[in-house]
Amino acid sequence: MFIVMKPSCSRSDIDSVLAVLEKHQLAGTLSNESDATIIQVLETPQAPISKEDINELKKQVTQKIKVLAGVERIPTITRPYKLASRDFHPKDTIVRVPAACTAQGYVEIGGQNVVMMAGPCTVESEKQLLTTAEAVLEKGAVILRGGAFKPSTSPYGYRGMGLEGLKLLAKARDTFGLAVITEVMTPTDVSLVSEYADILQIGTRNMQNYMLLDEVGRSNMPVVLKRGMSAKIEEWLLAAEYILAQGNKNVILCERGIRTFESATRNTMDLSAIPVVKNLSHLPIISDPSQGTGHRHLVEAMSLASVTAGSDGLLVEVHPNPEEALKDGAQSLTIGQYQQLMARLNGVALAVGRSVT
Ligand code: E4P
Ligand code: PEP
Repeated sequence: MFIVMKPSCSRSDIDSVLAVLEKHQLAGTLSNESDATIIQVLETPQAPISKEDINELKKQVTQKIKVLAGVERIPTITRPYKLASRDFHPKDTIVRVPAACTAQGYVEIGGQNVVMMAGPCTVESEKQLLTTAEAVLEKGAVILRGGAFKPSTSPYGYRGMGLEGLKLLAKARDTFGLAVITEVMTPTDVSLVSEYADILQIGTRNMQNYMLLDEVGRSNMPVVLKRGMSAKIEEWLLAAEYILAQGNKNVILCERGIRTFESATRNTMDLSAIPVVKNLSHLPIISDPSQGTGHRHLVEAMSLASVTAGSDGLLVEVHPNPEEALKDGAQSLTIGQYQQLMARLNGVALAVGRSVT
């Protein structure tokens, strides 16, 4: 249960609400959103009580609180995720990421602009990373992607440069002013990766790694949470809820395709997930047509389709020489293909009332 206070509410208005809760043996915690103060009521009363009784208790408390000064509304949230739900937070969330290459020094994800995140699947060398970074920046990307800690289905597959890769990403940021997104795979690496990255990526394989979700939730870093390859939208939003519940509001969802019976593509991009999520949640959503298709010749079509469906950004793999990539070369665009994509994307973005950053 959440109580949304009016922006103009006073401290004594908040205290009156907390006093009613306390009288009914309920506790409330305060959180300050950009445009409102929210009181979250802890669902378990201090005394043991049945589910029916707690519902009755909540009904009584709601009646008493909704008439108090300073209270704006007590939303009814019937979904299992609360903080991620649009019922709780009707306005779109905008996540701000520092990016020195932009005029204002930051980029906003979830606003009017479609935000481009591009770069190699995997950081392989300084030359490979800096060449790609320079090319994607020139054609409108503001965020550089690149994996330093790589998930690999096979234990014999390439697993990334680790710390050396993070250092190269930081070098690319210092050289070009691009913000950096990179994957973190374990809770113990969250503070290390946060030193080098501007956005933490949780990959599809870790969407339900709850200890990792808790840990990134305790950091205040922007997080891109990819959809688990077999996750339902509700499960994905519940994973986001883990991060939000720890106090980190900077969550960006990423549709990257799901497992189906279809084998013509690596995954099946669920484009309908974009408007579904927009309806259910206030969180920004981007899409990854590289993982979503597995084939570079399909990336442009699915990028354009994603933006048409309402995606707030794209995460695209680009490599100076995909044939020689250590990982995922088949789905990586050449620099020329990336430039062509950007030329077409601008027109599509315009047609749906957006622009590309
Ligand atoms: C992402 O780049 C992953 O590391 C990569 O797609 C994993 O591929 P794999 O499942 O073939 O190891
Ligand atoms: C990636 O983008 O580097 C990645 C590993 O993607 P996913 O988790 O979607 O497979």
